[in-house]
Amino acid sequence: MIVRSVTLGSFRNYAALEFAPSAGLNIIVGRNAQGKSNLLEAIAMLGTGKSFRTGREAELVQRGQSVAFVNGMAELARSRITLACRVILQGNAARKSYTVDGAPVRYAKFLGSIKVVTFVPADLLLVSGPPSLRRAMLNITLSQERATYYADLARYTKQLAQKSAHLRAGEQPDRELLAAYNVVLADLGARLMLARARYVLQLAQAAAAAHRHWLPTSPPLTVGYRPNPAIEVPDEATLRGDLHAALEAALPRELLRRQCLVGPHRDDVELALGAQPLAQFGSQGQQRTAVLALKAAEYAVVRERTGEAPVLLLDDVLSELDAERQEAFLGSVEGYEQAFVTATAVPGLKVGSAQYVVEAARLSRIR
Ligand SMILES: Nc1ncnc2c1ncn2[C@@H]1O[C@H](COP(=O)(O)OP(=O)(O)OP(=O)(O)O)[C@@H](O)[C@H]1O
Ligand SMILES: [Mg+2]
Repeated sequence: MIVRSVTLGSFRNYAALEFAPSAGLNIIVGRNAQGKSNLLEAIAMLGTGKSFRTGREAELVQRGQSVAFVNGMAELARSRITLACRVILQGNAARKSYTVDGAPVRYAKFLGSIKVVTFVPADLLLVSGPPSLRRAMLNITLSQERATYYADLARYTKQLAQKSAHLRAGEQPDRELLAAYNVVLADLGARLMLARARYVLQLAQAAAAAHRHWLPTSPPLTVGYRPNPAIEVPDEATLRGDLHAALEAALPRELLRRQCLVGPHRDDVELALGAQPLAQFGSQGQQRTAVLALKAAEYAVVRERTGEAPVLLLDDVLSELDAERQEAFLGSVEGYEQAFVTATAVPGLKVGSAQYVVEAARLSRIR
C-alpha cells in the first residue's frame, strides 16, 4: 500500500503540513529536533490510531492549541482509503476521534485500515529489554490485523484490572467473584494465546530465514513463544481448560501476593542463537542482527497474512547500523511498496529514493 497524502494540523511542532510522499523509499533528513520523528509518528497514527512514542497523547497537540489532526489518503491493492484522526485536548488528557472515508468510526474500526510496520531505536531493545516490549510487539501487529484480537485484548485487560483491584483491596476475598473472573480470563486468554502462538510460529520461520541469509555460518536464530502458564497451545478448547485450571491452581498464591500471577499478560517471546538465549548471552552485534531479522520477519508475515505490503517506517534506525547492515536490512524487506526513513544525514544507499529535508517543521524535497 502507498500513502499518497498526509496533512497535519497543530500536530506537535507542525502548525500545518501538506505532504505528498512518493512510492518506494522516502528519505527524510534533518538536524535534531526539526520534526522527523513527529512526521513518522503522524504517518504511523494513520495505521495504528495511536502514538508509537507516548501514552500521553495530549502531547501530540501543538502547544497552545486544542485540537490536532492527521489526515491521509492511501492506495491499497484494489481500492483507496481516506483516513482522519483528531486528538482533542480535554484538560490534561486527550480524546481521539476517527473517520474512514469521511464516516465517523470507532477506534477498533479505524485500527489497521492501513498496515504499518515501524522500527524505532527503542526496538533495538526487543531482545534484551523487558518482556512487556515483546508482548507489545505481538499486540500491535495482531491488533492491526484482526479486530477480534484487539477486542479480546481490551476485554482481557479490563477484566484483569478488575480482578487485580479486588486482590489488592485486601478485604475478605469474594471467591465467587474471583471464580467468575477466572472463567472470563481463561476464555479471552485462550484466544489471545492461540493467536500469539500461531503468529510467533510464522514469525520464527521468517526471522530464521532472514538471519540465515545474512549470517549463513552462524548458529540458527530461534524465536519461541513462552506462554504463561508454560503450557502447550494445542487448540482453543483444550487451552481454555488448561488455562482455567492454572488460574484456579494459582489462586492461593495470588491471594497471598495480591497480584494476578498467571495468564497472557505475563507471556514472553524468547530469542536464541542455537541453544544460547540471546538476552543473556548475545553480544551487542548478535542482539542487533536478531532484532533486524525479527523486524524483517514482522514485515514479511504481515504482508503474507493480509495480502497487502505494509508501509515501512524506520525512525533513525539506519544510522545506528553500519552500511552493510543497512543494505542487508532494506534488501531483506521484500516487496515493500513504500518506506519512510529518517536520518540526520542522507544514508549512502544504493537503492533509489525520494529525498526531503525537514527544518523547523518545514519539509522540502531535495531529490
Ligand atoms: N506538542 C508539541 N508542540 C510543539 N512542539 C512540539 C510538541 N511536541 C514535540 N515538539 C517539538 O518538536 C520538535 C521536533 O521533534 P522530533 O522528535 O520530530 O525531532 P527529530 O527531528 O526527530 O529530532 P532527532 O534527530 O533529535 O530525533 C522538538 O523540538 C519537540 O520539542
Ligand atoms: Mg527523531
